[in-house]
Amino acid sequence: MTQDELKKAVGQAAVKFVKPDSIVGVGTGSTVNHFIDALAEIKDQIRGAVSSSEQSTEKLKSYGIEVFSLNDVDQLDVYIDGADEITEHMHMIKGGGAALTREKIVAAVAKEFICIADDSKQVGVLGQFPLPVEVIPMARSYVARELVKLGGDPVYRQGVVTDNGNVILDVHNMSIIDPKATEIAINAIVGVVTNGLFACRGADKLLLGTSNGVKEL
Ligand code: 5RP
Repeated sequence: MTQDELKKAVGQAAVKFVKPDSIVGVGTGSTVNHFIDALAEIKDQIRGAVSSSEQSTEKLKSYGIEVFSLNDVDQLDVYIDGADEITEHMHMIKGGGAALTREKIVAAVAKEFICIADDSKQVGVLGQFPLPVEVIPMARSYVARELVKLGGDPVYRQGVVTDNGNVILDVHNMSIIDPKATEIAINAIVGVVTNGLFACRGADKLLLGTSNGVKEL
């Protein structure tokens, strides 16, 4: 199976976790795009969605799925999203699509975070994938210098502006032995909006696409 076929399989498998008559939290990315395609088939059974990006919002609306503002929703049963890397402890790196801040906010509201990923995303230690950090534009150089002090090698993601009007630094060569401590340390740098480590609030369930089928972990 190709990587995209594995992504499609987990996107489709995630639909069974969507509760009837609920508002579902929807992440961002190519795996989530498959989930949205599958969600469209049961759209009459749900109230709508809260979206983590303009990209997902556009796709949801194209199917006629109502997109609610998070400020009008006080609880979400499930949030379904992909990852760039995930460990057996359900710690993740996210933000390859630059949607990390809104993803983290929607995930914070949800009772259950279901990660959908193909098996290339499963890793022993996080950090092979460069860690995205969303930064207020005027703080970019300062934050980059602070990230170097933490042992990373930040690279400005040229030409990318997030949905929140900010920029992304991708941190290479960072040794992420303690993901919670690293998440907290980077978020404490003035000018950082958030970073792509989802360890303090990791996933609750992983649907992993493998050539032997979708595994539930
Ligand atoms: C976007 C994300 C995505 O979940 C992550 O990049 C995985 O993307 P894909 O499903 O396309 O592999 O965090 O900000």
